[in-house]
Amino acid sequence: MPGEPKRLEHPKSVYIIGFIFIIITLTVVIAAAYQITFSPHGPAVLVPIQKKIAESRRSAILDEVRKQEEFEKHRHFHNVVEYPQLPENMRPVCYICHSDSPHSKNKKVRAMLNMHTQFFVCETCHIEKKKGASVVYKWYNPFDENPEGPFFGTSYDPETGNLKEVNDQFSKIAPYFKTDGRLESAIRIQDSDLARDYINVRDRLTPEQRDNVKKKFHVHIKPKGHECKACHIRKSILDFKKLGFASNRAIDIEQLNIKGMITKYEKFYIPNLFK
Ligand code: HEC
Ligand code: HEC
Ligand code: HEC
Repeated sequence: MPGEPKRLEHPKSVYIIGFIFIIITLTVVIAAAYQITFSPHGPAVLVPIQKKIAESRRSAILDEVRKQEEFEKHRHFHNVVEYPQLPENMRPVCYICHSDSPHSKNKKVRAMLNMHTQFFVCETCHIEKKKGASVVYKWYNPFDENPEGPFFGTSYDPETGNLKEVNDQFSKIAPYFKTDGRLESAIRIQDSDLARDYINVRDRLTPEQRDNVKKKFHVHIKPKGHECKACHIRKSILDFKKLGFASNRAIDIEQLNIKGMITKYEKFYIPNLFK
């Protein structure tokens, strides 16, 4: 009725119902907007733009990854092939805390170093000299005390020029301490007592306590691995012939430097690795 004062005191329930309607409306509007712009079930009008933005953001990293992948393929590295994993208790102890790709700090060489873990145990590069013992390198296979090969990467298939396919997929080159003609493995397997103990209690340890345990596992481990030149050189620390490498393969590995590989890395990537 005209002239009558407007009613000001709505009951509380009206506000609550109104609020619920606003929420429902917003939900419907957002859902409709999503359906039109990004949803895979709708016209997805904004998806190309979203992709473009993502592409431009990630490109630096993607470029490096792609470059490395290309490079790895050209070098016929076997990590482009699916690689069987060892059962947990037979893997070297390092894998309790480190992954298959443990190198992350040095951007220029990390992919290269991580590739080498496919045919080396960590200690092959990270072993520290022990007094009174020399270090020798042998193929190590957790399932076979005396693996005889043929081992991956040691010879070329004369027909294709690629590396020869082999059955042995577990052997890796590993270091041994040699004292008075006696060999002692320099690697520790997860089943060792200390590792088993650590797995049982690690959740109960403080960061400091974990750090102390870490030191125990790093006995005879040097923080930086061997430099490239330790192996890719005529007088390699690896005796390629003894390790079963065909002589043309050995020469190719030794002479990466002649192909410009090492000098390239030395100049542009890792000046501190070469003294
Ligand atoms: C109990 C867990 C643990 C185990 C087992 C372990 N590490 Fe580590 N390691 C660590 C931690 C934690 C760091 C520090 C990582 C960081 O600072 O990014 C580290 C760092 C390193 C470093 C870099 C240098 C340093 O001291 O910071 C190397 C090299 C290394 N580990 C090699 C090995 C190798 C080889 C093995 C196997 C023999 C191994 N680790 C086993 C926990 C472990
Ligand atoms: C081909 C030799 C080689 C092998 C095999 C190797 N490393 Fe390394 N590692 C190096 C070198 C060289 C460095 C130093 C890199 C640099 O210049 O920063 C290094 C550094 C590291 C670091 C610290 C720096 C980083 O990149 O984060 C860790 C941790 C490490 N290695 C762990 C391991 C573990 C664990 C394994 C076994 C799964 C392993 N490494 C196998 C050569 C090797
Ligand atoms: C402990 C010895 C050792 C160290 C250190 C080492 N390499 Fe190697 N590298 C090898 C062996 C052995 C092979 C061949 C393995 C196989 O195919 O089975 C190899 C393979 C390669 C290949 C592939 C060659 C091919 O024809 O397949 C490249 C590239 C390479 N290494 C570069 C490097 C660089 C760069 C560094 C230093 C950051 C380095 N390596 C450090 C021993 C080593």
